[in-house]
Amino acid sequence: MKNVKIINLPKILDPRGNLSFFENSNQIPFDIKRTYWIYDVPGGEMRGSHAFKESHEFIIALSGSFDVVLNDGTKEMKYSLNRSYYGLYVPNLLWRRIENFSTNSLALIVSSISYNEKDYIRNFEEFKITRNEANK
Ligand code: TYD
Repeated sequence: MKNVKIINLPKILDPRGNLSFFENSNQIPFDIKRTYWIYDVPGGEMRGSHAFKESHEFIIALSGSFDVVLNDGTKEMKYSLNRSYYGLYVPNLLWRRIENFSTNSLALIVSSISYNEKDYIRNFEEFKITRNEANK
């Protein structure tokens, strides 16, 4: 899907345990304004199901696994995340949901903006209209 990409992070292998990292604007293509995480997700639950007008995100499965499903208004793509040394870059104006969480999975999400409910589009039809307008 256009502009969406899996980004591999540095991996410092060490017999004492491995280490990965990312820095502002270095590994990911935006400045980080906010970090949040999703955890203790009951079996079968889904998060998200909305789009963002402006914010970009980078999503990592720090532990366990889950699927990020992206819809651009016409087609849908599923990205399975299950390692802590890569993540998914999700630009703005994509409908996204996160589902199929494994037990004890931990989703780390960094965002390009501070929390702002006004940045959310929570209605799929409204999302498609906004996306069409943006593509004109
Ligand atoms: P929401 O983004 O709707 O959850 P998800 O997309 O994962 O299903 O957020 C759920 C609630 O949490 C929302 O009512 C506001 C609050 N919230 C914050 O206060 N700050 C944040 O950074 C986020 C992501 C959510």
